[in-house]
Amino acid sequence: MIVDFDKKYSEYAQYFEGELKVWLDEISTTPALLGESMKYSVTLGGKRIRPVIMYAVGDALGIDRKVITPFAVAMEFIHTYSLIHDDLPEMDNDDFRRGKPSNHKVYGTGNAVLAGDGLLNTAYSILFGECFKGNEHISAAKFICDAAGIYGMIAGQSADLSHEGDKAADEDTLNYIYENKTAKLIIASATVPSVLAGGKYYSELKEFGRRLGFLFQLTDDILDVCGDFSLLGKSTGKDKDEGKLTAVSLYGLDASKVKTDLLGDDCYRILDGIECNVSFLYGLVDFVKSRLK
Ligand code: IPE
Ligand code: IPE
Ligand code: MG
Ligand code: MG
Ligand code: MG
Repeated sequence: MIVDFDKKYSEYAQYFEGELKVWLDEISTTPALLGESMKYSVTLGGKRIRPVIMYAVGDALGIDRKVITPFAVAMEFIHTYSLIHDDLPEMDNDDFRRGKPSNHKVYGTGNAVLAGDGLLNTAYSILFGECFKGNEHISAAKFICDAAGIYGMIAGQSADLSHEGDKAADEDTLNYIYENKTAKLIIASATVPSVLAGGKYYSELKEFGRRLGFLFQLTDDILDVCGDFSLLGKSTGKDKDEGKLTAVSLYGLDASKVKTDLLGDDCYRILDGIECNVSFLYGLVDFVKSRLK
């Protein structure tokens, strides 16, 4: 891992927090509770890894951070809405998120559904606003919409639910869930800067995002078994309780850990083929592989 990886990560994340605040300050709703519940989940923090990926790839390709910001904010809104809905009693039934009570524990289920809807719609409004800036911006906005939708994250979440308790599920099913519920938003984070740069290293970055997304969900599944609540900020042992199809349920813990190395190597190999300064992205692969939160 490069020496100043942690410093660089927090610099990207801090920059994002500053930009995010500007967008959040503009949200003022009647009833006030709607905006308050949206901001509650967004401002609890989180790793901000999707915005960090966007800024880092943008830096490698020479895209100004200001150009990336609206896409990064829209992405984080979509991700946060997916977490609010993911935690609902009828979905994963999780009481904690980002170290605090889940949105529905504070505001009730009805308001939590609406807070999620509000974040999704605000993200779309931001993305539509970008479309006035040119064709690359339109393509980048559409990329995010597709990644979040019924051929992306929503499809993955739907498959995740419908395979709860499915003893016959196989590797293809798990891969479908990984690809869609998690990798699609990470693919979009890695690919949007390329789209904005006219397609520079598009295929490489798309595949990099895919592998990194798989690695990310793999470590998430492992952390649900081996992680620590105080670091993760969310309950552990939930996947087993809910009968989720995960890497751990399918392959076992040891084999899942071996797979993190293989996926990490795939990510490195893709980065080897990109002739820009992607040293931070190598560090990011290590970060995802060895993360505790
Ligand atoms: C959690 O995402 C949901 C998954 C896709 C596994 P993160 O681990 O990125 O959550 P935050 O944003 O850091 O809270
Ligand atoms: C969720 O996967 C992916 C989303 C689209 C939110 P998980 O259900 O495993 O995420 P956590 O463990 O609750 O964060
Ligand atoms: Mg889930
Ligand atoms: Mg969950
Ligand atoms: Mg999980």
